[in-house]
This record gives sequence, C-alpha cells and structure tokens, in this order.
Amino acid sequence: EKGGHDWFMEKEILEQPQAVHDTLLGRLSETGSILLDEVRLTDQDLRDVDKIFVVACGTAYHAGMVAKYAIEHWTRIPCEVELASEFRYRDPVLDRSTLVIAISQSGETMDTLMALRHAKEQKARVLAICNTNGSTIPRESDAVLYTHGGPEIAVASTKAFLTQLAACYLVGLHLAQVRGIKYADEVASVVEQLRAMPEAIATVLADLDGMRTLARDLSTRNTVLFIGRHVGYPVALEGALKLKELAYMHAEGFAAGELKHGPIALIDEGTPVVCVVPSPAGRGVLHDKIVSNIQEVRARGARTIVIAEEGDDAVVPYADHVIRVPRTPTLLAPFVTTVPLQVLACEIATARGHDVDQPRNLAKSVTVE
Ligand code: M6R
Repeated sequence: EKGGHDWFMEKEILEQPQAVHDTLLGRLSETGSILLDEVRLTDQDLRDVDKIFVVACGTAYHAGMVAKYAIEHWTRIPCEVELASEFRYRDPVLDRSTLVIAISQSGETMDTLMALRHAKEQKARVLAICNTNGSTIPRESDAVLYTHGGPEIAVASTKAFLTQLAACYLVGLHLAQVRGIKYADEVASVVEQLRAMPEAIATVLADLDGMRTLARDLSTRNTVLFIGRHVGYPVALEGALKLKELAYMHAEGFAAGELKHGPIALIDEGTPVVCVVPSPAGRGVLHDKIVSNIQEVRARGARTIVIAEEGDDAVVPYADHVIRVPRTPTLLAPFVTTVPLQVLACEIATARGHDVDQPRNLAKSVTVE
C-alpha cells in the first residue's frame, strides 16, 4: 500500500504534483477565471467581507501564513492568520462582515473546531478548507472548499500543505474577481501560473540527487536553522516543523531580517542554516536582502544550504550546498521551495533511524484541545 516506498510520507511527497492538479481541476476556467460555485457564499456575501482571519494549526497554519501574502495583495482586504488554539481566548473583533477561513486536513482538529465555533457565535462567516469529506469542521462551517489531495496517512503533513495553498489561492483570486478591485487584472495571469505548478513540483522532485548525502551529514547535528523572507518565511517555519517532528532535532525558522535582532547569536562554526531564497526576478529587493543575510550567517561560520531558483548565480559564492528549484513567480514560490525541505526532513529522520510515518508523541489528528 506504500506503493513500493519505504514510508507513506515518501509516497505522499511524490503524489504532490497530482494532488495539486486535482485540487485545481475544474476550478480554473479556460478564460482565466476562478470557478467556485461549489462554495456556498454568494457574490454579495463576498463583497461584504471587510476582514479575513485564517485559523489553523501546525502545517495548516503555515499554509495560512503563506496565503495571507497572496490574499491581501490580490483583494486588498486585511487578512490576519492566527493559531487556532489562541484565537478565541483573546476575544478577537468579529462580526457579520468578517470571513474566517478554517484550514484543516483532517477536519477534526479540536483547536480549529473550537475557533470556528467561536467565530460563528460572533456571527462571522466561516469557510472551511479541508481534505476530508463530511468531517466535523466542514459540517459546521457556512461553506467549504475541499482540497482533493487524497488520503494523507503519514503524521507529517506534506501534500495537504501544497493543496491547502492551492485552495487558499483559489479563494483569494475568486474574492479579487468578485470584488473587481485593482488586482483583478492579475487573476488571469496567476491562473496560468497556477496551472503550471504541478509540473514545477514534479521538476523539483526529479532533481533531488545529493539529498541523501546532505541528510546523512546533517543528521549528526544538534540544531538546524531555517531562514526566509516574505512567503519564504512561513516556508522556513514549515521546514523547521518537519525536522522537529520527524528527526527530533532542534530546528527553528526565522524571518531572515530578524536574525540581527537576536537569533544570529546562535550561529557558530558549522551550524547548518537552510536559506529559502526568493526569485531575483519578482521582487529584486527581497532577493538582495536575503543574499546579504546568507553572507552574514556564513561570515559567522554557518554552513549554508541554499534553496534558489535555476540560474540565480548570486547565491553561489555564499552557498555550501545549493538546491535548485524552477523559476516561479514570488507568490507561488512556496509550491516549489517547500518540497526539498520535506524531503530533507524525511531523509534526516530515516538516517537517524526513526519511524518517519509515526513520530513519537504525535497523532495524525489532534482531537483534544
Ligand atoms: O488536520 P489538520 O490540518 O487540522 O492538522 C493540523 C496540524 O495538527 C498538522 O498540520 C500537524 O502540524 C502536522 N503533523 C505537521 O506535519
């Protein structure tokens, strides 16, 4: 049932091109618009939205963090992302014109469920993004957009993350379209870019030689740090989460710009730092800033593992190891940059002799608060 793979996780990582394809299927029109009639929110409901909260846990929360950049950019509606376990305890400001997006692979996560119940009590509208048909979270929501990732068995979430991103992007683009605001023009071109993602993910997966050797090297370290900027920041957090849960290593993700405000003190000779580099094409400033950050950590002895776009030579002088991903527009980059981090965590955990599919102390769905 693992299809010849050692782990379900490995199988699920390789299924990602198909999972993203299936999640987009039938939801993008030939003319470059978004087809989301299945989501039971009227255009008027969507026009009334003046604030968005995304609530989720763990990997789904990281998907929400990425989505915030895209949703705010396209819709110009303020969007906050909040850990579901914190949400209701701080008395958030919610009303009828608030859209709460609850993201959950299993649809049974108690923290997320309690956050959505709180939102409903306050009269907010709740849209679930979920992978499990008929589970509690979509049942209790006003509307649902299912990810079509297929069953995810490994405790560590992989294909759920990429399909959640795809679903969030569909929602963001749909909102932009319905509201007809400034960035609505971008929708058609982003639709084309989204269509190209399954192939781009497949390209990353086909080009991961050297990952096992790198993983063996890193498996003896105590700490691995991850840095990124913009959408690369949540990707760094996700890379660190995968490593914690599977390899039981100390791993932390940082916004690269924060390093100088404290965390850079952690770096000494040989500390591995995984750097998620944005495209030099899109927002050149971001790219140049992170190249300086890579220089800074290397000057303090870090061993740099750099995830960078094909043809980005600026990183080469400061990289101990480069992992290449295909050219991808800035907002869509997480579809490709996350994949090597998943593989890295899987390989490091394997090298350390762990049960990758069933990490200690964890359950696939967390049904207690
Ligand atoms: O089923 P959910 O998406 O609601 O689960 C949320 C988290 O528990 C989940 O993503 C968890 O963080 C994963 N084990 C991470 O790999």
